[in-house]
Amino acid sequence: MVEIEDVAARFRAGEAEVARTFFSQPRPLAQHLYWLKVQVSRELRNLREIFRGGLTSLVDQVDRGVTGEEVVAEPRGHYYETRHYAMLAYILEGLGRAPVDWKDLDAERANAEWSVWQREEQKRRRAWEKLSPL
Ligand SMILES: [Fe+2]
Repeated sequence: MVEIEDVAARFRAGEAEVARTFFSQPRPLAQHLYWLKVQVSRELRNLREIFRGGLTSLVDQVDRGVTGEEVVAEPRGHYYETRHYAMLAYILEGLGRAPVDWKDLDAERANAEWSVWQREEQKRRRAWEKLSPL
């Protein structure tokens, strides 16, 4: 457990350093909007996954391989992810003074450079996990 806490603490410290560096100097609104839009687009990826029926298929596995703890944890995770999207989209609408349409963002996300890179990274990670299973 101490090892997990140590790894998590290092990730948190890294994220804090990135945020401190970014906000250490004034930046144009367009730059904030760009990065906020990227993050909203990343969060909306979860919306599609959440509402594709994952919970519907989970119900048949309750007490048949899926524990009560897992039944509670799954919708809680979806709640947090949905909240991330809604909160960031709200901020983006306020700062950008324009409505956010998740389907437009989702369409842009499909071809965005950061999204292509992220998918490639996920492929590399899956390949690496196959080579070195835990
Ligand atoms: Fe999230």
